[in-house]
Amino acid sequence: MIDPDDIASNPQLPEGAPAIGDLIATRLSRRRFIAGMAAGAGMLIAGCAHSSGSRATTPFTVTSSFAFPEIERGLDPDHHLPDGYIADIVLRWGDHLFDANAPAFDPYAQTEASQLERFGYNNDYIGFIPLEEDGSRGLLCVNHEYTTTRLMFPGIADGFPESITAEHTRVEMAAHGGTVVEVEKSDAGWKPLIGSRFNRRITPHKTPMQVTGPASGHDRLKTSADPTGTLVAGTLNNCAGGITPWGTWLMAEENFNLYFLGNLPDDHPEAASHKRYGLKDTIAAWGVFDDRFNVEKEPNEPNRFGWVVEVDPRDPTSTPKKRTALGRFKHEGAENVIAPDGRIVVYMGDDQRFDYVYKFVTENAYQADNPDPDLLDEGTLYVARFGVDGYVDWLPLTFGEGPLTQENGFESQADVLIETRRAADLLGATPMDRPEDVQPSQQSGHAWVMLTNNSQRQTDEVNAANPRAKNMNGHIIEIVEPEGDFAATRSRWEILVQCGDPADRSEGAMWHAATSEHGWFGSPDNAAVDPEGRLWVATDGNPYTGRADGIWAMETDGSLRGTGKAFFRAPAGAEVCGPQFTPEGKTLFLSVQHPGDGRSATFEKPTTRWPDFNARMPPRPSVLAIRKLDGDKVA
Ligand code: FEO
Ligand code: CA
Ligand code: CA
Repeated sequence: MIDPDDIASNPQLPEGAPAIGDLIATRLSRRRFIAGMAAGAGMLIAGCAHSSGSRATTPFTVTSSFAFPEIERGLDPDHHLPDGYIADIVLRWGDHLFDANAPAFDPYAQTEASQLERFGYNNDYIGFIPLEEDGSRGLLCVNHEYTTTRLMFPGIADGFPESITAEHTRVEMAAHGGTVVEVEKSDAGWKPLIGSRFNRRITPHKTPMQVTGPASGHDRLKTSADPTGTLVAGTLNNCAGGITPWGTWLMAEENFNLYFLGNLPDDHPEAASHKRYGLKDTIAAWGVFDDRFNVEKEPNEPNRFGWVVEVDPRDPTSTPKKRTALGRFKHEGAENVIAPDGRIVVYMGDDQRFDYVYKFVTENAYQADNPDPDLLDEGTLYVARFGVDGYVDWLPLTFGEGPLTQENGFESQADVLIETRRAADLLGATPMDRPEDVQPSQQSGHAWVMLTNNSQRQTDEVNAANPRAKNMNGHIIEIVEPEGDFAATRSRWEILVQCGDPADRSEGAMWHAATSEHGWFGSPDNAAVDPEGRLWVATDGNPYTGRADGIWAMETDGSLRGTGKAFFRAPAGAEVCGPQFTPEGKTLFLSVQHPGDGRSATFEKPTTRWPDFNARMPPRPSVLAIRKLDGDKVA
C-alpha cells in the first residue's frame, strides 16, 4: 500500500539544497552530535554493531532512567507489555457510547445510524481531561483518523469503486471524526461510562463547526451549502492533536485531500493551490455519492479542511471551532505549552515528504483565572528554517511581510493562511522528512520533532536537519528554546537520534551505544512526555524491519542521552499513536490503529483478529490503558 503522506506535493525541490553545502552540513551535524554526546559523558554509535542481547553487555554502568524491564522485539498477532504491567482494553471500534443495553456491535449489519452512536474507527490522538484530582476519572478525547473499507466490511477486497455503496460511505463518515467519552478507573481497570452526559461523537458530516480567525467568511471558503464561508459540516482525517491549558481539545486535520473526487482545469483559480495540497487527480469514494466531496462541483470545499479544530469536551452541545490562524496544511498534531510571558505556543508538523515544521504563538497571554475562549484566533504563525549553524529561525507567515504580498498573489492574511504551504515555500522554510508530532516539554523548554521517514530524498537534497538520503527510518530533532522561551523566534536544534538498525552500517543510524537490539526503532510518529518530562515515542512503519510498531522510552538527558528502550509492542498490522499519560503518571493511554492491516488484508483475511480473536469479528482499532500491576507509576 502507498502511504498517502509519502507522496510529495512540494514543487520546490530540490531548490535550497546545494550538494556541496549540504555535504558539509551533514558532517557538521554529525560532528555536533558526537561532540554533544561526549560533553554529556556518553558515547554515540553510528553504524556500529552493538552487542547482541542486553545493556548488561555494554560498558555503560549508568542506570537507565526507565525502570521497566525492556520487552523483546518481534511481530505476532497480539500486543506485548513489560512484566509487571497490564493493559485494559478501554474502547473498541463499535462499542456503544450512549446505551449500555444497546445490541452488541455486529460488523455484518453496520448502518450509519448505529455507527453514529458507537466508538469510531482507527483511533489516533488521545487527550485526557481529569475530572478527579487523583486522575482516576476523566474525559478521553479521541480522534478517529480514517477508515479502511476492505477491513471494515465483509465482501470488499480491492473493489473500489464498484463494490462500495452510498451506505458504506455514510458508515465510514460516521466512523470518522472524534469521540468524547467519560472513563473511570476501578480495581478492575479503566472502563467507559456508557451514557455519561459528556459522551459525544463528532463526525465529518453531522457536527456543524464555526470557522474563526482571519480566514473566516473569506470568499475562498464559500460553498453552495454555506454562502457565508463560516460554517462547515464537520471535520475529517483527524490525526494527532493537543489539549490546551484551558481544557479544550485540538483536533488536527491531516490528509484531507484523500476525500475529494475530481479535478479542476489548470486555469481554475484554485487549481494550483489544490495541487500543492495533493488534490490533483483525486479519486476518493465519498465524492461519488456526495457532491460536497466533488471538487468539480464544490471547488472551495477543500479549503474548509486542513485546519486545527478546537472542541470544548465538557459541553457536548458546544460548536467546535476551526481556528484558521494556525494555518492550513496536513496538520499532524497541535501539542502546546505556555511561554514564560503567558502566551500559548502550539507546535505543528505538516506530514508530507519535504514539508515543514511550524509553531503558532498567540498574541495575548493566557489568563488561568479568566481564560479567553478565543485566544487561538490571534497570533503569529511561524515556519522553521533549520540552519547549518545549529540555529532554527522561525519565519513569520504575516501578510505584507517579505514575499507574502500582492505581487505573489496574496491579498490578505486569509490568503496566506489558506495557502500556508506556498507562503512557507516563498519564505525558504526547510523541507523535512515528513514532520509528524512535535512534542514540547513544559518542564525542559525543549520540543522534540518526530520526522518519520523519507525514502525519496536524494543525495543532492539532504540538508543539515535532514542529513540522510533515502531516509527509511526517520530521526528525531530536539529544539532547545532559549531559556525556555517557547515564543522565541531563534532557537537551537540538534539531532537526538537517527533511527534504524545501528547494526546495519548502510543505514547511518545513530543511537547511544547502550541501546539494546530491542531498543532501536524506526519511523517515529507520535510522542508524549510523562509527568517527569521524559520522552516516549510511538512508531508507524517498523514492520518492514521484521518488528512490530510500538512505544519506546527515550533518554534525552545525562550520559545515556540517545538510548531507546522498548516498552510496548503492537499486534500485527497496527501502528501505535496517541500516547497520553494521566497527570499523576499511573496510566499510559495509547491507540492501537489499523490492527490486522497488511498488503492484501481484508475483513475475511486480516493479519490478526486482535483484540477479540473471534472468527466472526474483524480486527478492531482500540484504546488501551497501560498500568503497573502494583498501582505505581508507569516508569
Ligand atoms: Fe496521521 Fe501523519 O499520521
Ligand atoms: Ca501520525
Ligand atoms: Ca504527542
